[in-house]
Parts: sequence; C-alpha cells; structure tokens
Amino acid sequence: MALRKILTFEDRALHKVCRPVTQFDEKLHTLLDDMAETLIDANGAGLAAPQVGILRRVFIMDTGDGIVELINPEILEMKGEQDGMEGCLSLPGDFWMVKRPNYVKAKAQDRYGNWFEIEGEELMARCICHETDHLNGHVYTEIAYRKLTDEEIEEMMEARQEEE
Ligand code: NI
Repeated sequence: MALRKILTFEDRALHKVCRPVTQFDEKLHTLLDDMAETLIDANGAGLAAPQVGILRRVFIMDTGDGIVELINPEILEMKGEQDGMEGCLSLPGDFWMVKRPNYVKAKAQDRYGNWFEIEGEELMARCICHETDHLNGHVYTEIAYRKLTDEEIEEMMEARQEEE
C-alpha cells in the first residue's frame, strides 16, 4: 500500500465527470487499498478517486463503522433534510454550511463487482452525497451557503478534542 497525493481544488481532475469502472482487477484493488491508507492518514470521512487524480467512479468512506468501498455508486433514494458543516480533504482548513438530505439509499459495486445496497442517515447520508458529487465533477462549496468563521472552526476543534 502507498499514500497517494490528495489534489486540491485548483486541480482540473476535481472538476471532471468520472467514467464508470469496468475492470474489477488488481489495479482497482491497489487503488482502493492506497485510498484507504490515504484516508486514514488524512483523518477524513471520505475520499473519491478524482481527489487522487483517478477519473473513475470510485469512492471510499468511513463514517464510524470502518471503511466502505463504493464503485459505480448510484443514489436511489433521498429523504428529509439536514443542515450542517462540511469539509473536504481537497480544501484543507475550510468548512462550509451545506444542506443535504438526511437519509440516502444507494447502490454500488464492491471491489469484485458485486452489487449491494447501502443506506444511512446524518453523516453517512452527507458523505454519500458529497462523494457522489465528486464523481460528477462537483465540489461541495458549489452548493454551500456560508463559510464558517475562524471562531466557529476554533470552537468546533475544541469540542472535538473534548470528545476524544
Ligand atoms: Ni470532498
């Protein structure tokens, strides 16, 4: 496994529509393993392939229950609304307020090509939307409505440290 470089907002790879995965081979498995290592190292909740320069429909997420790999994901259902802050490893240090559905159900393929369904609320729903947007060339600030102030970010970091 190896760490991959996380591209930042200015990189063109983050603004392109990704192509579906057709080969569930060793190359894909290496990409997924590297993305997992990169996500853990960056202490993030989600990472999409275009963020490491691969324009394929692949993302991984860890919203508290370990890493889940989603290949060729499709959102099937969205319900409700949540309003909260969001960040992205490609925009380090920034946090913006974004409205998202509170519940999302999606289908995706695993690393061997088997289809499965996944559903989640709150952070998982937010993450599935955020990462699926990456695969369509969209960065979350496009739909965010307010940037958090330095004071708000400081408060959030303090609250997080208290939780740990
Ligand atoms: Ni992101």
